[in-house]
Formats: sequence, structure tokens, C-alpha cells
Amino acid sequence: MKDVMILVGAGQIGMAIARRMGFGMKIVVGDYKMENAEAVAQIMTNAGFEVVPFEMDLSSRASILNMIAEAQKHGEISMLINSAGLSPSQAPVEAILKVDLYGTAILLEEVGKVIKRGGVGVTISSQSGHRMPALSAQIDEQLATTPTEELLALDVLQPENIQSTLHAYQMSKRCNVKRVMAEAVKWGERGARINSISPGIVVTPLAIDEFNGPRGDFYKNMFANCPAGRPGTADEIANVAELLMSHQGAFITGADFLVDGGATASFFYGPLKPKE
Ligand SMILES: NC(=O)c1ccc[n+]([C@@H]2O[C@H](COP(=O)([O-])OP(=O)(O)OC[C@H]3O[C@@H](n4cnc5c(N)ncnc54)[C@H](O)[C@@H]3O)[C@@H](O)[C@H]2O)c1
Repeated sequence: MKDVMILVGAGQIGMAIARRMGFGMKIVVGDYKMENAEAVAQIMTNAGFEVVPFEMDLSSRASILNMIAEAQKHGEISMLINSAGLSPSQAPVEAILKVDLYGTAILLEEVGKVIKRGGVGVTISSQSGHRMPALSAQIDEQLATTPTEELLALDVLQPENIQSTLHAYQMSKRCNVKRVMAEAVKWGERGARINSISPGIVVTPLAIDEFNGPRGDFYKNMFANCPAGRPGTADEIANVAELLMSHQGAFITGADFLVDGGATASFFYGPLKPKE
């Protein structure tokens, strides 16, 4: 039996992280598009990793539990990478909340119940969650600690309070960061750690959908006018994930890391600041 890594979301960011951390492990890669899971499995298998593709849906607890059961056939789960998500141009409000917000919360909860002692996880949030004004302390606490099955019934997530798919995405990503804080306390009881990374624009199929979507010019302007002056790469996100998931990151848990080429800094205090 080997230690097992669960990778949810067979996208570019997830694969880049899995390639940094997954050597010598069994990697179960889940995606709702089986062809994506198989494509990542093939690339990684050809590069010397042991990968099992698995069809799953992050928005379903039953499906997450199936994936965990599959992973446990191979050994104890000692690493989690969650990099599945729907962007604002890819899906309606309801689907974004169900996958990005609710699904992530369930995954952290269920893996947190079985993660190996000393295990570690990372979930991918987004700079988008850093662009909203601060929420009240009460709403932050609701997002952090409301039981998973009651999350989508929160007032703040009702259709009359969510203005757009972008707003749904921002709330989901803010919720991811809050959930990670609350889960870090529970994961800590098993000696395990969980953190999130909030990337800026990283060139992946999801970002390319955004460049070609209704907010394409907005995104192109964002990376052109951020301090880095360019979009990032999945491997640059993996640089940070490697720190968080390795022994060097042993004192880091319940935290979120903004890796956005300075776009958020510019949004608040520079040329990307929205005009009044
Ligand atoms: N690319 C960026 O610019 C960027 C910026 C900030 C945050 N993110 C976040 O990074 C994460 C990874 O995105 P990426 O850029 O690598 O995209 P990607 O398109 O390469 O990968 C995302 C994967 O998630 C899968 N997926 C979507 N819904 C799913 C579901 N319900 N169940 C299982 N799998 C599902 C997709 O099929 C896809 O394979 C997402 O959470 C995204 O919101 C991306």
C-alpha cells in the first residue's frame, strides 16, 4: 500500500501541483469530465507517476465519498489538492455556488475526517475573493462554520443577493478561504494541515474561456496593468503549493496565499483601481 494523493480537478493548476508533490504516491485524479482526468493521467503516467483517473462531481457528497473510497483502496490519503472549479463565464450562478462553494466545503470536510496523521491539503481559491469589500464578521463566520448542508440556504447566497456569476464566484472563493480557516482547526486534531492559494490570472483552459468571454477585455487589461505585467503560469502556483505542502511549510495552516502578480494591490491602490 502506498500513500495516496487525491487530486480533484484535472486542470493545469492541479496537475502542476501534483507533479511537484506526487512522486512515489498513488494519485487518484477526479474530474467530472472523464476525458480531462484521463488526459492528465496519461501525461503524468508517461512522466513516471502512478495515476488512476476517476469520474466524479465535486458538487455531490455521494460522488466525493465514492472518490475517497476509491482512494482508500490504494492506501491512506495523505495529500489533497482541490483545483476543480467553474469560472464566471463557464456556468450560471447556481452551478458556480454548488461546485465552487458547497462542493469545496464538502470535500474539505470529508477528507478532513480521513486524512492521514501529518497529512496536508491545498485548495485553489482566487484573487476574485479578495476584490469584494469586507463582509461583516457575522457573514464571515457563517461562511466559515455553517454546516455544509445548510450553506446554500444562507441569506447572503440567495438569488436576490447575488448580482451576477462574477459575484457568485467571488462569494464562493471568499467562502473557500473562510472554510479553510475553520477546517484547519479540525485537520489540526489529526496533525494535518490545510491551506488555500488565491491565484491571479493563470493561463489555463479556464482562463482562456474568460479571455474569450464577455469580460475578456477586463481580464486582458488586468494582467497588462498589474505590477508583473503578465498572466501567471500554473507552475508558479505550484511553487507556492510546494512550500505549503512540504515540511518547510510545517508551521503554515488555515492560511490563504495571494499569488496574483500584484493585481489585487493595483486594484486597491494603483492603475487597476475602478474609476469612481
Ligand atoms: N486560471 C486562472 O486564471 C485562475 C485564477 C484564479 C483561480 N482559479 C481557480 O483555479 C482552479 C483550477 O482552475 P484551472 O485554471 O486549473 O482550470 P482548468 O479548466 O484547467 O481546470 C478545472 C477543472 O475542473 C473541472 N471541474 C469543473 N467542475 C467540476 C466538478 N463539478 N467536479 C469535478 N471537476 C470539475 C473541469 O472539468 C476542469 O478539468 C479553479 O478553482 C479556478 O477557479 C483559476
